Amino acid sequence: MTLLDFVPSLGSGAPVRLAPAVWPPDTHYDTEGGITLGGVALTELADRFGTPCYVLDEAEIRRRCRAYLTTFPEATVVYAAKALLTRAVAEWVTEEGVGLDVCSGGELAIALAAGVAPERIVLHGNGKTMDELRTAVRARVGRIVVDSTAEITLLSALPAHDQRLLLRLAPGIEAGGHPAIRTGGSDHKFGLSGTAVGEAVQRIGRSGGLRLVGLHCHLGSQIHDPDHYGEAVRRLVARMAAIRDEHGLLLTELDLGGGHAVAYRPGDAELNLAELADVLADALDVACARHRFPRPRLLLEPGRAIVARAGVTLYRVLAVKENEAGRRYAIVDGGMGDNPRVALYGARYDAVVAGRHRCGPQRGTTVAGRYCESGDIIATDIRLPADLRAGEVLAVPCTGAYHHSLASTYNGIGRPPIVAVRDGSYREIVRRETVDDLLAREV
Ligand SMILES: Cc1ncc(COP(=O)(O)O)c(C=O)c1O
Repeated sequence: MTLLDFVPSLGSGAPVRLAPAVWPPDTHYDTEGGITLGGVALTELADRFGTPCYVLDEAEIRRRCRAYLTTFPEATVVYAAKALLTRAVAEWVTEEGVGLDVCSGGELAIALAAGVAPERIVLHGNGKTMDELRTAVRARVGRIVVDSTAEITLLSALPAHDQRLLLRLAPGIEAGGHPAIRTGGSDHKFGLSGTAVGEAVQRIGRSGGLRLVGLHCHLGSQIHDPDHYGEAVRRLVARMAAIRDEHGLLLTELDLGGGHAVAYRPGDAELNLAELADVLADALDVACARHRFPRPRLLLEPGRAIVARAGVTLYRVLAVKENEAGRRYAIVDGGMGDNPRVALYGARYDAVVAGRHRCGPQRGTTVAGRYCESGDIIATDIRLPADLRAGEVLAVPCTGAYHHSLASTYNGIGRPPIVAVRDGSYREIVRRETVDDLLAREV
């Protein structure tokens, strides 16, 4: 039997694609059965850069930016950099016309180092320091999202010139894929309470250098039902109308945060952008008519939905073994240090062998990492070849968001490199962290 007997489509000349919901569109099995991404063989990258290795498809990130800009032509789209930020990523998204949403002085510094125009940057965060606010005001970032009245005290002490602000509110909407990533309800640490809003509006009004231009909310992450955003629009336009009526201030911007769900495994629900656009347009029509309020400009802050599917992580299998309970494990050379999402949120992933087609007998296998914790699992009970061997490379799709940015050096293991692929070529944009890097911090 040859590979062509198992997979006749390989002989048809047409490249065989992998599940488009979780892999970038330009991911194929080549004629030898190995996976290529952006025209580059994944096993070649594993050999060249070692494993674990994050691979990033530049074209997919650019494509997602364009999808947002064409679906929401009247909105301002700012990429939530916390999902994944390197100078290269900041360059790609801003070249496509998307702004950048940062949440710390470090992210702001990376954005500025990448040459992002400050007016296209939004700074948010529920605990900004005076230094961070000073740097942001000095750089003249486009918007600062105020999360507490204490921040207004700090901002008022800075020599600001027409620094535009948004007020973050909790709209009282519980949405999101896991309790740890729900932020829009009324019992969270984010945003100002309804009673603090009046004081905030007055203090900003008296400040001189600060100008309140709109409201902000972020409901949570992995939200696939667009109606939650429609409800947020209705509630926040009502708040904007109340601010107009009580303070005579007409706000013109409404930032709905991010949180748009992506599929991590085939069959997972994801947020449909066209449906979201319809829901938002309807909600704005109704809410603005009801409160006789001029239509505000929307800001959207997708993070995961821009970069998640662009990322694939490569691991090498170190051992294949069965435990007393009869469960087969594939132990790989990465794990919770490069992907803490399984332990943090119970996230579920798929994995495939990068160097050969998914054919022949398969066996239920749990892919586990090399870290000293039982919870260090990458994929539970997935189908992998019955003859899987140590030394083979596994590819885990949809690992572009909150992987590199959440990675740690737990167990003294340096963080993986990021290799970007595009049009058949590749380049390392972040190198592997070495033991020397770890030792270099010690004084
Ligand atoms: C204020 C804000 N905006 C945007 C995002 C991006 O969320 P996501 O990556 O789920 O789109 C987050 C994530 O936590 C956030 O806190």
